[in-house]
Amino acid sequence: MSLIMTTTTLKQQVFVHHVIEHQLPHNNRLITTQEYGIGQAPVNIALSKYWGKRDATLNLPMNSSVSISLPDLGTKTTICITSTQQDAIWLNNELLSNNHPFCIRLTAFLNFFRPPNSAFQVHTTNTVPTAAGLASSASGYAALVLALNDLFQWQLSTQKLSLLARLGSGSASRSLYSGFAIWHRGQQDNGLDSYAEPIDTQWPELCIGLIKINVQQKPISSTTGMQNTVNTCDLYQAWPQQAEKNMQTILEAIYINDFEKLGETVEHNALSMHATMMATWPPIVYWQPESLAAMQTVWLLRQQGILVYFTMDAGPNLKLLFPETEKPAIMQAFGDIQIIMPFNKN
Ligand code: PMV
Repeated sequence: MSLIMTTTTLKQQVFVHHVIEHQLPHNNRLITTQEYGIGQAPVNIALSKYWGKRDATLNLPMNSSVSISLPDLGTKTTICITSTQQDAIWLNNELLSNNHPFCIRLTAFLNFFRPPNSAFQVHTTNTVPTAAGLASSASGYAALVLALNDLFQWQLSTQKLSLLARLGSGSASRSLYSGFAIWHRGQQDNGLDSYAEPIDTQWPELCIGLIKINVQQKPISSTTGMQNTVNTCDLYQAWPQQAEKNMQTILEAIYINDFEKLGETVEHNALSMHATMMATWPPIVYWQPESLAAMQTVWLLRQQGILVYFTMDAGPNLKLLFPETEKPAIMQAFGDIQIIMPFNKN
């Protein structure tokens, strides 16, 4: 067991070394030139999903994915180095105990960058209201690597920061960008070609609606969920190919601003991902009765000619996609909805 752990860590360390050391010829990555590092990153919603790892150690995905970032919703992180024995981590102004799962995960990630005999002090605040029902690990790891880049003055390219963020949480690779982003699956075993890039297209009329069903901690983490799916779900064989095909269609729809094509493919992609979850053993069902009720409202609205589609991640909450013209109808159908226009800050 310990040999496996050591090998695993070594693989990650080699990866981090490749990303950082090539940038800095004098091996000075552990020297800070600043007292504090600050980073801020948005949450992102996958339009075509990442579900399944081809390498769990390096968070390498089975398939590429495309996302949209939500401005103003995300994470802000400040980091500094202290001479204390242990890391001190504040989440939303609350000091967490060192055995809190959030701290254990963060400390393990920080170990890749830790100067000898030192600890980090981290203040991280989610600008996503806790009640928004959005995962904050993507914006969290993206903000953290930006803060580390600032602290150590690495001056890494955004592409390299995306590689590092991916190591913390796969979807974090996409949170380095505003607007649409594509996270490439990559081919290499060393993980150096699996990063996200921005998609240079605007879509000012695009609205995202957040429907909060339940904001409690999800029953099964996405990492465990996707591993179980890969290991036990026969339907999963078809997923990587469908996901790549869906992604191409979504990219086309984005480039020509074809809302129907976008919405149909996004919703089909999300439901296909959830189908693989349900066909996993033990089954993974993130839905709650209210999730299905909200889906039925969306389908009913479509029957009435309203252009609205949904997507869902590893949780019960729905994210709606609709053009600005449908805003009044959507607001009427869903009372408690937060609407965001990713390309239009009004
Ligand atoms: O990045 P993770 O490990 O939290 O996984 C994210 C998985 C989904 O949200 C379901 C899909 C995605 O592409 O974001």
